Amino acid sequence: DHPKSFAIRGQTLAFRDDPFRVGPESAVDHCEDGAVVIEGGRIVDVGPATETLARHPGAAVDSYPDHLIMAGFVDSHAHYPQMEIIGSYGEQLLEWLETYTFPAETKYADLQYARAGADAYLDQCLAYGITSASVFSATYPSSVDALFDAALERNMRIATGKNLMDRNCPEALRDDVRSGYDDSKALISKWHGRGRLTYAVTPRFAITSTREQLEAAGALWREHPTTLMQTHMSENLAEIRWTAELFPDAPDYLGAYEAFGLIGEGANFGHCIHLTEREIARLKESGSAISHCPTSNAFIGSGLFDMKGLRDCADPIRVGLATDIGGGSSLSMFDTMKAAYEIAQLRGYSLHPLRALWLATMGSAGVLKMDDKIGNLAAGNEADVVVLDLNSTPLIRRRMREVESLSEAVFVQMILADDRAVRATYVAGRKLHDRDVANG
Ligand code: GUN
Ligand code: ZN
Repeated sequence: DHPKSFAIRGQTLAFRDDPFRVGPESAVDHCEDGAVVIEGGRIVDVGPATETLARHPGAAVDSYPDHLIMAGFVDSHAHYPQMEIIGSYGEQLLEWLETYTFPAETKYADLQYARAGADAYLDQCLAYGITSASVFSATYPSSVDALFDAALERNMRIATGKNLMDRNCPEALRDDVRSGYDDSKALISKWHGRGRLTYAVTPRFAITSTREQLEAAGALWREHPTTLMQTHMSENLAEIRWTAELFPDAPDYLGAYEAFGLIGEGANFGHCIHLTEREIARLKESGSAISHCPTSNAFIGSGLFDMKGLRDCADPIRVGLATDIGGGSSLSMFDTMKAAYEIAQLRGYSLHPLRALWLATMGSAGVLKMDDKIGNLAAGNEADVVVLDLNSTPLIRRRMREVESLSEAVFVQMILADDRAVRATYVAGRKLHDRDVANG
């Protein structure tokens, strides 16, 4: 542990602009030999190593020659109680929920089971270089306690909330309008703003909430405007049809949320694959955000997200990149960026590697309204940092010999790398994962 000032030295990568707005290469500051200086859990200086270290003569140095040092990954949408069901065979969304997901989540009624799940989940996040996430817990308030406790212990910036769901689900997972509201409110007073924790009001999706529950969720969010709001929207065609039947007065799926104030800055809609023109316009006007979950969309067979139309356009929507485990098939942001690339390819659009990397850090941090604190190597930011080994396997080493630019190097990593590339993960300036220690 470094109690006072210390530095991480290696290749540094920071964003100085949004690579969807300016040329991707000119959006980054890349330093072949750079240093990040950290004091009291924050980044205080970043730049070329020789000059930067000279400004901090007392600083101890963790040196990672040839490694890439960047902000920790941010996963803008995941379900920690679904870790146990990653890779469950053969169903699409609604059947997948009934068959695998709901039964798995009922186990999280048990606080001890939930706490073990939360520890396992956060440790895996760190091993994959994910330092922050917006997470769905289960219906049970204790499942939120378990994750927040585990996050507080690691000093991780984590958002979560209890699932609000009062219909169309097993009895064991059901709450009701009153208890859903009261339990959420109690969790907000207990946890929101403590350490680095943020509460997210979490109506699971329109199908599993009555109008009265969505109304209560809207009221709760308005009464606690610094909390976030997360849900699912427009993921699967059968889901969209059922939602239209349940909300006959709504103009479309988003309309069902909008009627209760569940839209706007801080609203985080998972998936958003099959959007109408009206929904796109309303998402833009309202400052709402989208979590793109590409491995999930491929794995559950939901559809092809329109990255170009929603993000690489004149008036883009805030978009983050998300694993959506356990609908998603991987906790790796490399796999997630790769799937985002492949899905974009299937729609005739090539997602630039530096844009993918931006989505997995700054984009997701923006979805959580935390891009002034995390998601980038910038002085003043919290020191959530990942160190990537760019030559982590024999195949990658061989491929890297041919690489001639930073963009190419990042692209090779996002196509070929896995958790072996995550050499170290720092959270608020403390090294919480070291690959070589973890593997003896
Ligand atoms: N829609 C409602 N709940 C879920 C969930 O748990 N996972 C996914 N992928 N979609 C959902
Ligand atoms: Zn989800």
